[in-house]
Amino acid sequence: MVERTGAIIKAQGVGIMKVKITVNGEKKVFEIEPSEKLADTLRRYGYTEVKIGCRSGNCGSCTVLLNGKPIRSCLKFTAQAEGAYIETVKALNKDGLHPLQKAFIEAGAVQCGFCTPGMLLTAKALLDAKEKPTKDEVKEALKGNLCRCTGYKQQIDAIMKVVNGR
Ligand code: FES
Ligand code: FES
Repeated sequence: MVERTGAIIKAQGVGIMKVKITVNGEKKVFEIEPSEKLADTLRRYGYTEVKIGCRSGNCGSCTVLLNGKPIRSCLKFTAQAEGAYIETVKALNKDGLHPLQKAFIEAGAVQCGFCTPGMLLTAKALLDAKEKPTKDEVKEALKGNLCRCTGYKQQIDAIMKVVNGR
């Protein structure tokens, strides 16, 4: 009975809100329920490059850049992103592979690939903020992005290769 009522409310559009967000340079209007999380909205609208692992802020696989800063999109309410500029990993290769993407491939840092979008975006934010981060700073930046496949060496090597080539 309760479910039926909820369905009617949804069908009438009650409780649905519109949120304007720019994603990878395109202005979008998302229709959402107030409680929807950004990761779910993005995936629902086709941005399936945003991966969802833990839904609790621990794995980093859902990382996107919000106004240039990495955030856990599984924790962020979509409504809180009104007016923001979001980048998913697809923002990196609009004009061919980004140097970080090339370095990840060359270093063998992409195995199953589930952590890769979040890792790349975290690394991009670091390199945008700092010309020459140290290896320790790279490790610190990546500490919230879990990888079950590589042992992290490959990603750190890949990022340092880009840093050292600057
Ligand atoms: S799915 Fe968001 S941190 Fe794991
Ligand atoms: S490459 Fe598989 S989880 Fe990182």
